[in-house]
Amino acid sequence: MTEPKSTLLIVDDEPVIRQHLRQILQNKYNLSFATSGAMALEAAETIKPDLILLDIMMPEMDGYETCAKLKANPAASSIPVIFISILTETDEKINAFKSGAVDYVCKPFQSDEVIARIDTHLKLYNLQRHLENRVEEEVNKRRLEEQMLIQQSKMAAMGEMIGAIAHQWKQPLNTLGLVMQDVADAFNAGELDAGYLKEFTAQGMGLINLMAATVDDFQSFLRPSKQIDIFNVTETFYEVVKLFSNLLKSVAIEVQINTPQTRRIYTTGYRNELKQVILNLINNSRDAIISARRKGVDIDYGVIAVDIEAAAEKVVISISDNGGGIDNKVIDKLFDAYVSTKGEGGMGIGLYMSKAIIEGKMNGKIAASNIEGGAQFTIELPLSTP
Ligand SMILES: Nc1ncnc2c1ncn2[C@@H]1O[C@H](COP(=O)(O)OP(=O)(O)O)[C@@H](O)[C@H]1O
Ligand SMILES: [Mg+2]
Repeated sequence: MTEPKSTLLIVDDEPVIRQHLRQILQNKYNLSFATSGAMALEAAETIKPDLILLDIMMPEMDGYETCAKLKANPAASSIPVIFISILTETDEKINAFKSGAVDYVCKPFQSDEVIARIDTHLKLYNLQRHLENRVEEEVNKRRLEEQMLIQQSKMAAMGEMIGAIAHQWKQPLNTLGLVMQDVADAFNAGELDAGYLKEFTAQGMGLINLMAATVDDFQSFLRPSKQIDIFNVTETFYEVVKLFSNLLKSVAIEVQINTPQTRRIYTTGYRNELKQVILNLINNSRDAIISARRKGVDIDYGVIAVDIEAAAEKVVISISDNGGGIDNKVIDKLFDAYVSTKGEGGMGIGLYMSKAIIEGKMNGKIAASNIEGGAQFTIELPLSTP
């Protein structure tokens, strides 16, 4: 397959020149012609030529003005313009380049030279277009990957949430089952009176309200923060831990929050996003403790210790556990996307998202290290005064 011919727009008010250029160029290129600056501006948009040959001296709109207008039009600005003129003064050439031309050929011209210059600029232009397309493709790809990551991390958080709700509901659901069964027994025993009914309704409604409240708690958790807020860091940790502490207790893990100074430590940023980070870190510690136990490490009680301190304009939070620490294989790329040692059990986006939130959105820092018996994550956030 031969390459498709490039299209040139030739702009000149003199028929003789147009005719001459046609003779030189018609075998190699598709040619379009314009006889004035105004026509050229229109043709540049409708024909979308690959290159424009533009006469300088034309009545009404001259070549410089035409070129400047082409460069100001986003639909035509990238098309290379070569000036053709009988003028050979250096000043004229400088003006030509100033108005946005890429080259300059003088009449009367040598056909070989004109063709060589046209071909050079067509090549450059094609290369530039190719590069721009590649960059755009790459940017789009990245954006898509980023959106997928966000989506996946939301799904993961949703899964955690459903797990916690299911756990929270187990007991009231069981109780509700018993209450229901008791109605039949009471009926058979002839005990189904007004007093019984009242008690039955109160008990049932109590359990149902409890379950509804659980859903409400979790529902607000996943909503992204609409705006930047000043909020209490310690309270935020307590809120997350409260939602998940039952579930953690069921696998013999306890979260301890220590605030040696005061509970009134504030930062500025996105509160619900920070909650997601906290949940990610707690879940990772939980996974590490559970997996260490599976490998036979005797961890009687899993402990996730959270320390929150205010230091020189910073809130410093450390979250450490006794889950055996971070695998050396991943410790250098822990915060990269899709890094996980959990096989099917992990997607490897928790820490990636956590870093994106803390460092990309909250002006903070997050780091990880191994300590005696486990891992330690440190978060720094800007300290605020409410
Ligand atoms: N507290 C921790 N203790 C030990 N290893 C950890 C801890 N937190 C994270 N890791 C390691 O970092 C990896 C990446 O974590 P993360 O990005 O949350 O992805 P995932 O939990 O899906 O694997 C984990 O697979 C694990 O190997
Ligand atoms: Mg994780």
